[in-house]
Amino acid sequence: MNSYSSEISGFYKLSISERLKLIKEKVGLTDEETKVLKNFGYFEPESMDILIENVIASYQLPYSIACNFKINGKDYLVPMVIEEPSVVAAASNVARMARKLGGFHCEKIKQVMIGQVQIVKIKNMDDAVRNIEANKEKIIKLANEKDPILIKLGGGVIDLEIRPIETIKGPMIIVHLLVNVLDAMGANAVNTMAETVAPYLAELCEGQYLLRIISNLAIHRIAKCKATFDKDMLGGPQAVEAIIYAYAFAKADPFRAATHNKGIMNGIIALASATGNDTRAIEAGAHTYAALNGYSPLSKFDIDSDGNLIGELELPLAFGIIGGLTKTHPLARISLKILGINSAEELAQVAVALGLCQNVAALRALASEGIQAGHMKLHQRKKQKSNED
Ligand code: MEV
Repeated sequence: MNSYSSEISGFYKLSISERLKLIKEKVGLTDEETKVLKNFGYFEPESMDILIENVIASYQLPYSIACNFKINGKDYLVPMVIEEPSVVAAASNVARMARKLGGFHCEKIKQVMIGQVQIVKIKNMDDAVRNIEANKEKIIKLANEKDPILIKLGGGVIDLEIRPIETIKGPMIIVHLLVNVLDAMGANAVNTMAETVAPYLAELCEGQYLLRIISNLAIHRIAKCKATFDKDMLGGPQAVEAIIYAYAFAKADPFRAATHNKGIMNGIIALASATGNDTRAIEAGAHTYAALNGYSPLSKFDIDSDGNLIGELELPLAFGIIGGLTKTHPLARISLKILGINSAEELAQVAVALGLCQNVAALRALASEGIQAGHMKLHQRKKQKSNED
């Protein structure tokens, strides 16, 4: 049992130093520990305090660069925020194997997100569907009027879907607003639009609106990439075959598929963190997509006629380069400069390539020396360093 009570009223109203003092006293932090918390690094404490409530410190992680990436013919140095040893080195190493055979080829990505509006207690489902259909253009116009800047830049609602569903609380209609969010992740624009049209939708359905929120299953924002990895650099035909066996395992077994996909997300989330993107939204979308037809690996593998490994990865990726932390976090802005990126689409293309690369790196290590060897090398380095110090 803790000796303190966690009940604190008005904690959010205190200044950062008052909050820290209170926590120090309650918990019994030492002066040394308090000094660590007081070090905000490159952040202005005030800027943290307006970002989120109850802030007492900032939290730092390693910021690394993965090398050797060539994607759609362009070279990229890829910033990654991740604490796990070997991940960045492995990505750089495997990127070189793809680079030799032309690099990563990523498809164009539509920047379309879904806003969901839930309508319940509907008088007549058929009439409701008909009424929404008949007023589709009016609903789209209503939503678009709410974000004139997005419209001016070429984005906005492009379509509307009507989805009657059966639930444990009876029938409902879920309306999907399909919104081209351009370079944003999109949650703000989409949520505002969903909230705007909900009362009108409820009226058309002679029902009641409830939830109005973006869907993180960004099924219209699918990123796809393909690359061929040099068989000799991978370790020869046996290594390639071993990766195919590893893939077969993941395809047949959800216990393995979860870990297989985790390896993919090691890369994607490290880049999302480095660029100030919403990592939880990306994770949610990826795993739901993987589960659409029974939980499966997000990537697939084959061997080409020369014996090289062909890898493909496909998943929804809601990356933004404007809004939220992408603009306010100093490192997020620097990351975009390092990447030399001008659009959310390009950032998602790098992410999907990095995810595929990370996946190959993990499978290669797992199917040969095992994952611990790389980890232990770094561990050894750490031990050596602390002995030297
Ligand atoms: C560890 O962070 C990631 C791996 O478990 C991925 C995998 O098993 O494919 C090595």
